[in-house]
Amino acid sequence: MKSSIKHISLILLALVFQISIKAQTRDVITLRNGWKFSKGHHPEAVSPEYNDNSWEEVTVPHDWAIYGPFDKEIDKQVVAIEQNGETVATEKTGRTGSLPYIGEAWYRTSFTLPNADQNKKVLIAFEGAMSEPEVFINGTKVGEWKYGYAYFYFDISDYISNSKTNTLAVKLSNKGLSSRWYPGAGLYRKVQIIVKDKQSIDHWGTYITTPMITDQMAKVNIKTKVSGAQLRLVTDILDANGNTVASNTSETLYGNEFDQNIALEHPNLWSPETPYLYTAVSKLYARDILKDEITTRFGVRRIQYDRNTGFSLNGEITKFKGVCLHHDLGPLGAAVNTSALRRQLRILKDMGCNAIRSSHNMPSMEQLELCDEMGFMFLAESFDEWKKPKVENGYNLYFDDYAEKDVVNLVRATRNHPSIVMWSSGNEVPDQWGSEGVKRAKWLQDIFHREDPTRPVTVGMDQVKAVMENGFGAIMDIPGLNYRVHLYEEAYETFPQGFILGSETASTVSSRGIYKFPVEIASMKTYPDFQSSSYDLEYCSWSNLPDDDFVLQDDKPWVIGEFVWTGFDYLGEPTPYDEAWPSRSSYFGINDLAGLPKDRYYLYRSRWNIEDETLHILPHWNWEGREGETTPVFVYTSYDSAELFLNGKSLGIQKKDSSTHQNRYRLMWKDVKYQPGTLKVVALDKHGNAAAEKEIKTAGKPYQLILEPDVKTIKANGEDITFVTVSVVDKNGIPCPTATNQLEFKVKGKGSYRAACNGDATSLEPFHLPTMKLFSGKLVVLVQSTTQAGDIELTVSGKGLKTGKIKLKSY
Ligand code: GAL
Repeated sequence: MKSSIKHISLILLALVFQISIKAQTRDVITLRNGWKFSKGHHPEAVSPEYNDNSWEEVTVPHDWAIYGPFDKEIDKQVVAIEQNGETVATEKTGRTGSLPYIGEAWYRTSFTLPNADQNKKVLIAFEGAMSEPEVFINGTKVGEWKYGYAYFYFDISDYISNSKTNTLAVKLSNKGLSSRWYPGAGLYRKVQIIVKDKQSIDHWGTYITTPMITDQMAKVNIKTKVSGAQLRLVTDILDANGNTVASNTSETLYGNEFDQNIALEHPNLWSPETPYLYTAVSKLYARDILKDEITTRFGVRRIQYDRNTGFSLNGEITKFKGVCLHHDLGPLGAAVNTSALRRQLRILKDMGCNAIRSSHNMPSMEQLELCDEMGFMFLAESFDEWKKPKVENGYNLYFDDYAEKDVVNLVRATRNHPSIVMWSSGNEVPDQWGSEGVKRAKWLQDIFHREDPTRPVTVGMDQVKAVMENGFGAIMDIPGLNYRVHLYEEAYETFPQGFILGSETASTVSSRGIYKFPVEIASMKTYPDFQSSSYDLEYCSWSNLPDDDFVLQDDKPWVIGEFVWTGFDYLGEPTPYDEAWPSRSSYFGINDLAGLPKDRYYLYRSRWNIEDETLHILPHWNWEGREGETTPVFVYTSYDSAELFLNGKSLGIQKKDSSTHQNRYRLMWKDVKYQPGTLKVVALDKHGNAAAEKEIKTAGKPYQLILEPDVKTIKANGEDITFVTVSVVDKNGIPCPTATNQLEFKVKGKGSYRAACNGDATSLEPFHLPTMKLFSGKLVVLVQSTTQAGDIELTVSGKGLKTGKIKLKSY
């Protein structure tokens, strides 16, 4: 009896916390709070009577595996990674992050339907469930899916109770050998209940395109799929200030679809520089009774892929200065979080990046919304595998039954986002070999075209010789090459499209703040500390250096851009340390796993950010024991030349030239002999006059902790996060670039400690515990809001160091 009272009170609590956005006609309930979670096999948990008191309370989005512990045994595999050109199987660790994502787990929650009656239709929608979700309502299975990255929904009208509390149980199972990176685990994206009239707009039923755009006018075509009879659709288009700028009423149904063309005068165009958004408000009436109302944001922009001019946005030739991103958010794991995504995009925006590729799967809705708002073009990808396996339990298990459904859902759920300018049906699929693969490529591309005739389709192709021979490359709308810079020219000559996209480039490896000597270009180079050198000269056997791509981007008008592997480090795939425990995350990132920029950030920034000046010196200047030894200095800058000074003495002027790929994009003083002190670079303008300067100094002993939040105020919604960069300086305020002090974190007031990350790919410290070592003098602490507004204080302390404190606010 006692436990059932507790059970009921928990349900009530759960209901209070449900976030409900009430429109006039439909309810959208985001099931965020009040979830119970348990790992293991719990088939009896489908029953509404099941007692889940002992289960953990969680909020969704949730990633059950990110709390670790890291464990070598979890993903130990004896395999040859064929995509990396390996032929002999060896022991691999850390491939999927060495986090406990494998196995079965259950989630339970309950909900009531505020305005439900016999005339309502009720849907449950998932934006991603890792993986093989099975969904039960009130004890009955209502549906299942397979792919952990897919969006899907079920009509649950026949299974719910309108008057009583409904119980939802979700079973998830992750197989081992199912991924090439850390996939995350659990309900890591939104889950929503949608209650609407039976006569209503279909889920994902709105499709907005802008087939004609001039300065004077845009033709906005809105197709709206509906259910019901004697219907009338009224659509208003609102500008960014919420003013109605055009309207249309339609009573003609083509099958179950309204097809409206609305003239929008003097349209504001969407672009990365001016991400202007309109909103369409669609109201559905049945005999003058309002039955449904939804809003859809869209943009007016023209994309063209032309065999002579390449890619143009709104009539202007534009190259993709893009990065590939995995879905994990470092210390947050796969659990989607808007603040973390926004921070990533801010960092990338400052770098001059204009495009994102969601490698190698469906992006989160939150990420697409931010890209629409902040101005990033988007390459939305679907699969890393088709029918031929890369990993034993990968998508190959589902391809036949699910590929079409997964593509359809991807397109229908996301096609109104102006940011999306291209689809990708696959990445380096082994099906590039053989005629069956060519048919599959065509079949998938046709599905994309059927669902969205306005955007082209690419595949990231790495078997370039094979796809030149068998026709695979020729049928793609956009031939995307992954690496293989030496084959670009030949592929361009061979393929009919007239242009090539660098769908995946560079895969240069580095560890933030770590420099190795001698400084030399090297492939698959490893060191005893399992780090890679931040001189940005190390790459993989299949890949190359950033400068090699820059040359192609700059010299070949038919190369339409690149997507660098990767914008941020991610969990898993610790190449070149695939066999070296405890490496457990990537070295590919332009930014590390904590989101802190590596030197490479400034190399890309110097070329991509054409508005702002870049002047960055590397390495750091704390080389006790290397006095007199050759310690090359590189400068990444938007200027063409600069003069370097060590302790006031000139080490000469360097100028960019075309003698090597590196000389063209970097200023390098290769023979500097290390002496402690001040290293200063003075950038020179075209006339040889000093235009900017920057200096770095040798630091003394770590003395004081410095805290810098990315934002000082956060929303009191229990989700918002501020990312506080913690660094240590000496008595004179000079950053200590090699400090590794163990730090402790405390959060007081209306916030909580969420996680920390130092970007060290070999660290086994769990992210969620309030202690961590500095790596190369830095780490990042994530402070999350509660649902109450007020003051928050973060204190960071370390033995022998002056404590750092910062006051934050939530509202
Ligand atoms: C590519 C692959 C990526 C990643 C990368 C590492 O071949 O598409 O997923 O594995 O290599 O360099």
